[in-house]
Amino acid sequence: MFQISLKGKYGLITGASQGIGRACAYKLGEADIEGLIIVDLVKGEEGEETEKNLKDMGVDVKYITGDASSEEVIKKAVDIAIDSWGRLDIIVNVAGISFMTSLETTSFDQWNKVMEVNLRSVFLTMKYGSIPMKKQKSGSIVSMSSISGVTGGSTGPEYGASKAGIIALTKYAAKQLGPYNIRVNAVAPGTIATDMIKRNYSKLTDEERQKKIDAIHMKRLGDPAEVGKAVLFLASDMGSYVSGEILMVTGARMS
Ligand SMILES: NC(=O)c1ccc[n+]([C@@H]2O[C@H](COP(=O)([O-])OP(=O)(O)OC[C@H]3O[C@@H](n4cnc5c(N)ncnc54)[C@H](O)[C@@H]3O)[C@@H](O)[C@H]2O)c1
Repeated sequence: MFQISLKGKYGLITGASQGIGRACAYKLGEADIEGLIIVDLVKGEEGEETEKNLKDMGVDVKYITGDASSEEVIKKAVDIAIDSWGRLDIIVNVAGISFMTSLETTSFDQWNKVMEVNLRSVFLTMKYGSIPMKKQKSGSIVSMSSISGVTGGSTGPEYGASKAGIIALTKYAAKQLGPYNIRVNAVAPGTIATDMIKRNYSKLTDEERQKKIDAIHMKRLGDPAEVGKAVLFLASDMGSYVSGEILMVTGARMS
């Protein structure tokens, strides 16, 4: 059976202590990535478990507990990759937050926080991560957008706007970095069964929840590993001529 291999490749992933990020990290590990820097705001039991499982797969994991929207943290993460391994091949941007807000209730602070964590973090990894990638003349950057970035979504004005920002940033960076053989893509998941979704769904009535499932034509939530597989495709040489694209992973959720 043909298997995707990331042998000899080194990566950086944000927001991978749990949920979709963890599932993406595991997919990279299963494909034999040699080393992976994780930047996550927290470690805790979830992060410890993620780190251990990746190490058990033979991955050289370096876990940085820090804010992915901080310039200092991202610069440090890229420096660690270069100091340790001399290269950086893959960046996966997953760190993200959402508040169940509306135009009326979203505060100025919530707007700024979501823009910082969801969008600025992606800008920062592109800005600093592309420096060694340009020297290598190779690299792949995959960022977690959302169906909300395409449809506007229903989780608050700042969330959809931040995810739409990732789409524009992805296309912009793909154009700028293409001549250096650096591919830049995004994945836009629909509704994936993670803590973020469980938290958001717990605020809905049964009827509202059912309405959301009914809008998914495959009639089920996605599994984080199914997003991980899409990320692995784009991160690896399987996607060698795919750049500037947004891969929807929604089970045919159209709105
Ligand atoms: N779950 C879904 O249905 C869904 C759908 C579309 C897009 N997404 C996106 O996928 C990503 C992951 O979602 P999830 O459902 O796994 O969420 P989650 O809340 O389960 O995980 C988010 C991760 O990001 C980390 N994080 C939060 N703020 C951070 C920061 N400032 N710096 C570094 N790390 C930080 C958290 O600690 C956690 O590990 C998010 O970007 C989210 O917007 C999720």
